[in-house]
Amino acid sequence: MSTVIIKSKEQIAKMRAAGRLAARTIEEVAKILKVGLSTDEINAFVHDYTIKHGGKPAPLGYRGYPKSVCTSINEVVCHGIPSSRRLLDGDIINVDVTTVLDGWHGDVSATFYIGKVSDEARHLVEVTRKCLDLAIEQVRPGARLGNIGAVIQEHAEKNGCSVVRDFVGHGLGRGFHEAPQVPHLGEWDRGLRLKTGMTFTIEPMINQGGWELYILDDDWTAVTKDHKLSAQFEHTLAVTVDGCEILTAFSGPLASSNSNI
Ligand code: MF3
Ligand code: CO
Ligand code: CO
Repeated sequence: MSTVIIKSKEQIAKMRAAGRLAARTIEEVAKILKVGLSTDEINAFVHDYTIKHGGKPAPLGYRGYPKSVCTSINEVVCHGIPSSRRLLDGDIINVDVTTVLDGWHGDVSATFYIGKVSDEARHLVEVTRKCLDLAIEQVRPGARLGNIGAVIQEHAEKNGCSVVRDFVGHGLGRGFHEAPQVPHLGEWDRGLRLKTGMTFTIEPMINQGGWELYILDDDWTAVTKDHKLSAQFEHTLAVTVDGCEILTAFSGPLASSNSNI
C-alpha cells in the first residue's frame, strides 16, 4: 500500500473497459430498483449481469465478503451486505459495484431514491453528489491530493453535513485497493502530487448527523452512530495530461449533480 502504480495508456484502456462494465451494471440496477425489491435480488442481478458480460464481481470472497455487491440503506454508511431486506418507500440506497474485467478493476457507486423520500434525505444525497463532482474538478497533474478532501469537507460542512473519516478512496488497477489512500477531508495544497497515469477512486460518504460510525457483528456493515442518514457516490478516475477521465461515467437520474447547492 505504499508506492503508487502509474498505468500506461494500454493499461488505462483496460481499466476503461472494466469501468464501463461496472458503470453499465449500475445503470441497469437503477432501472430495476423499486419498493419491494430485496437487496438479495439486487445482488443476484449484479452477479449475473457481470458474469454474462465476461467480468467477475470483485467483492465476492474479498477478505471473506460473502456477496457480489454492497447495498447500504439509510443509516448504513457502506459495506451493507445484501439480504432479504426489501426496499421501502422513502429509503435511500447506495449500490456499490466493483467489477474485474481481464484482470483490471472498475469501482463505482451511487445513492438512489426509493419512492418518495424526505426533503432532508434529498438534501443529503444532493450534497454528497456535488461533493464528488467538486472533487473530480480538482484532479489534474500537479494538483495535491489534499485538495480533494478539502473541497469535499468544505462543501459538506457548509451544508450542515459531516464527512466520514474511517473509510477513504483508493488507488486501483490490477488490485482492488492500491496506494494511494484518498481521504475525503483534508487541507489545500497538502499531500501527494498527482501525476498522469495515476488511477484511483473518490468515494465520499457524507452523513446527515455526526461522522462517527460503528461496525455490526457481521464485521462489515458500517452504521452511523446516531442512526441518521448517510449517502455516498463513487467514481474511478484516471489522471490524464490535462485533467482526468471518469472511467465509470454513466447516465441516469443521479449520474451528475442535480441541484444548485
Ligand atoms: N467497493 C468498496 C469500495 O469502494 C469496497 C467494498 S469491499 C467489499 O472500496 F468486500 F465489501 F466488497
Ligand atoms: Co472504492
Ligand atoms: Co466501491
